[in-house]
Amino acid sequence: MKKDFLWWRDGIIYQIYPRSYADTQNDGIGDLQGIINKLGYIQDLGVDAIWLSPIYPSPDVDFGYDVAEYTDIDPKFGTMKDFDQLVKEAKKRGIRIILDLVLNHTSDQHSWFIESKRSKDNPYHDWYLWRDPKPNGDPPNNWQSVFGGSAWEFVPELGQYYYHMFYKEQPDVNWRHPKVRAAMLDVFRFWLKKGVAGFRLDVFNAYFKDSAFRDNPTKIGLRAFDRQEHIYDVSQPEMIPLLNEIREICDQFKETYVVGETFLADAAQSAAYCGDDKLHAAFNIGFAHNRWHPKRFLTASLKWYEALGEKAWPNNHLSNHDVQRTATRYCFGEDDRRAKVAAAMLLTLKGTPFVYYGEEIGLRDIPIRKKEDIKDPVGITFWPFYKGRDGCRSPMQWNSELNAGFSQAKPWLPVHENFPDRNVIRQASYPDSLLNFFKSIIEIRKKEPALQRGDFYPLVENPRHILAYLRRQEEDQVAVILNFSSRNLEFDLPDGKWISLLDQDKQISDSIKMNPYGVALLKLQT
Ligand code: NOJ
Repeated sequence: MKKDFLWWRDGIIYQIYPRSYADTQNDGIGDLQGIINKLGYIQDLGVDAIWLSPIYPSPDVDFGYDVAEYTDIDPKFGTMKDFDQLVKEAKKRGIRIILDLVLNHTSDQHSWFIESKRSKDNPYHDWYLWRDPKPNGDPPNNWQSVFGGSAWEFVPELGQYYYHMFYKEQPDVNWRHPKVRAAMLDVFRFWLKKGVAGFRLDVFNAYFKDSAFRDNPTKIGLRAFDRQEHIYDVSQPEMIPLLNEIREICDQFKETYVVGETFLADAAQSAAYCGDDKLHAAFNIGFAHNRWHPKRFLTASLKWYEALGEKAWPNNHLSNHDVQRTATRYCFGEDDRRAKVAAAMLLTLKGTPFVYYGEEIGLRDIPIRKKEDIKDPVGITFWPFYKGRDGCRSPMQWNSELNAGFSQAKPWLPVHENFPDRNVIRQASYPDSLLNFFKSIIEIRKKEPALQRGDFYPLVENPRHILAYLRRQEEDQVAVILNFSSRNLEFDLPDGKWISLLDQDKQISDSIKMNPYGVALLKLQT
């Protein structure tokens, strides 16, 4: 590893959805001790940091994304002592912890909201967004909740509505209130002092809404939320100075990293929030929605790099806790060949790769067959058109024993029925498994600075079957060739002698034969 290794630029970030990783309390829900037990596995994978989805006390209307206390641990996950142990044990293994901060809204069970709702003259009342009804009793404006229905909830005792962009149990806070701002900034300080290396900011660009609460203009769309131009409920200019302040706080600690979930934003809008005095990075949300076509991924990547320019280092993800898993989207049945192509792409494109737990063994979404089985409320609301996000949140598959080794108790979501074959132990046991493929690409990536921080040059401008690009860092050059098709193809290499990093340093020049869904990583011999 080079001396100037910078973990968030050159390394890999592994997202864990703690409810579903490993359960030691035997209540069917994963916990912090479970993650601690698996640190050896995580280190062995070769990742540099873990992003933990929320672990704070929560009534779980939105499974942790409704926070009832920002500076504590939910007992279902363990204690603050467990958290400190996790940070310490992870550090020993060179793994950093990134926390998910959900600061756009709280749970309606947060003490701030309970106070806020007591009366109009309660000191906490203005910590949330309360408005009087229109003269006819209607909500104050036309804003809609992402999760269905009006974004305004009426509280008869107060004769007022409060605003919630997500569920009504997730009231949005009033970021314009100086005390709210101060309290939230203290949340950053609290966790930084505990030794976390950074944060993922949940829907940060929704913190501020139009101060005059103007109606959004309408447009054509499927759901009520999509039938509006969201110009007044997200992306207000006040966010930039706030990001400056957040960055200043984080920069007081060594090598921190803040990545934002930009809501309803394209690559250019997301990039506008990044820079030396703003976020280190934002997610390119659309990337995971590309169809299986090399051109799609190439175009999306180039757009992303162009939008970011020199301002910020890119990052890439294909899966997370909100979208169908990579393997579910792209693979046929249990065939992992496309998952390998996707993994190789994710780990070698320019940008920090984010790997979602289980992606390394090709977890598939669990099927959602009945409305009664759904846990994610958004799936209940929109059934049968949209079945929610349970599919991509099922328990990690460790072995072929009871509940895939996730828990001795009935898991909160079913384990995928493919677990006897698809699990960590099984995949570790044969050389060409997806897990071993992931590990070998990560190992190569670690040895090749070009694959970490190198520049990116497409080798085919208008790809139909093969996505091919060069990563170049000073004199080091690595060519990545990915056959997206089920055909045997031949690919003409750029001039020079190349050695195959995946194929025992075999020497190749002129052209390379690509198997169906084949992957080649070639280093230029100097
Ligand atoms: C985005 C999170 O990723 C999602 O899981 C959550 O439901 C919403 N924000 C609300 O916090």
